[in-house]
Amino acid sequence: MITTITIVIGCVLVLTLPHWLPSLVIRLRTFLFTQINGEEAVALPGQGFDVGDFRALYGQKAARGRSRGAALSDLFWYWLSPGPEMHQEHIEDGPDYEQISRLTHKILAVSRDHVDQLADQYTRRHIDTWRVRGRKVIRLRDAMMPLWADFYYRIVFGEECPAHARELIVGNARNVANALKCCDLRRMKRRLRLTRYLVARVEEGALPHPFPDGFSVQQQAYYLQGTFFNTAIVQSSEGMAHLLLAIAQNRRVHDRLARSPDDDIYWDQTLKEALRRYPLFGISHRITTQDIAWAPGRTMPSGSVLCFNHLAYHLHGYLAPEEFRPERWDHIDEKQASFIPFGMPGNRPCPAQRLAFIAMKRVAQVVLRHFDLYSSVEHSRSLPSRGPCILVSKGEQHSTTVAHLALMAGLRVRDRWENVYRSIVQLVLGTYMVWDARRLKLCQRYFEQHEPRALSDTPSKCPRHAMPGPKDIR
Ligand code: HEM
Repeated sequence: MITTITIVIGCVLVLTLPHWLPSLVIRLRTFLFTQINGEEAVALPGQGFDVGDFRALYGQKAARGRSRGAALSDLFWYWLSPGPEMHQEHIEDGPDYEQISRLTHKILAVSRDHVDQLADQYTRRHIDTWRVRGRKVIRLRDAMMPLWADFYYRIVFGEECPAHARELIVGNARNVANALKCCDLRRMKRRLRLTRYLVARVEEGALPHPFPDGFSVQQQAYYLQGTFFNTAIVQSSEGMAHLLLAIAQNRRVHDRLARSPDDDIYWDQTLKEALRRYPLFGISHRITTQDIAWAPGRTMPSGSVLCFNHLAYHLHGYLAPEEFRPERWDHIDEKQASFIPFGMPGNRPCPAQRLAFIAMKRVAQVVLRHFDLYSSVEHSRSLPSRGPCILVSKGEQHSTTVAHLALMAGLRVRDRWENVYRSIVQLVLGTYMVWDARRLKLCQRYFEQHEPRALSDTPSKCPRHAMPGPKDIR
């Protein structure tokens, strides 16, 4: 009798694993990360800080510190290496930042027509390589990476991307994205192969835009790798995975776009809504460089680490904020809304905002002209599943067939079970990487070598608040 009860309980526990294990593991991961990382950051919005404080503090000039003085920076430098010190996102304000930022803007200053033409050309080319005959399940993020590798290679070098370079770029970007989500460790050999390739390209004078004086060949290669062959590829691919998955899971939106593929206003609204609901930055952090008196009687001391939670901000002030409703933008003034998909104006926002928006929209339009999309997987902001989605060639008979329904059910079951396995992998690899990053202290050591007294050497006056959970960070 006791054996039977034990077997029944065991079976119930095993069969219900997808319902309780992933969230339990995430809580455990949050706890472990916080223990290793320490508690030093101010979470916004968070205890004692509302969305008004979020806006007021994010917009401050004295809240533009990016790397120096925050233990959290060691983690980001670890994930973005090699060359995080040359990644525009992490260079502190000053003459180097100004020059690098100007160069990025120059490279990205491409006409709308040219962006549309390149997006069109590369999407059509890559759709062929997906080999969808009738219907097929693909992982959207994986499918998008080679396309963006071709696109950004052309933007940077003005040339077609050779196959071996595409392989290097995709290998690097895939590993950065997977490591950030704790689904893989950093594969430094793979990343450094791309660095070596870029060093060779810089040495042969392949970059059509002159680099500002005073930067070594290695630094130039790191810059290209960080901004264009890491951030650009990862962000564009993740953004597309979210956009297409959201369309796949909202029939009304899908069918309206399929019916009116040239309805530019509705496309804009759909992309905005995807960026609102699934912002690519979970948390971005800033370090205050002076005391900030941002409201009567309230001062944020110099050296504070501010963690801005983009998703929490994007869910504030909307009707049914969790729902995916592009039409809501009919009645919303974007400038007044809690909406900063490309960062806070005035505090180092995304230099690719214009180009990325145009290109993503065009790529999605071409994809939807060729396929109907369906998916039954969990759609979270961090999307560690890489966006499994069923593509059905236009004109195929599909919507009522038993085969299609079985495929949807199978996709759902597989996704839930993958979640179980993945959550354990994330716990183990994430804990190791957070520990390793704390041990290597890439950011802290860099500033110790490059500045006699880094901010991190001075005792911080920052009030201690709970660190945001790792779930929010990625
Ligand atoms: C859907 C596409 C993209 C989204 C949603 C996005 C979003 C963002 C956000 C929110 C920030 C500000 C983060 C913060 O405040 O800490 C940012 C910064 C940045 N992004 Fe993007 N990004 C995208 C694509 C790209 C692309 C294609 C590139 C490169 C070509 C790029 C390069 C950068 C750089 C260099 C920064 C740092 C800016 C600075 O500190 O001066 N992003 N991005």
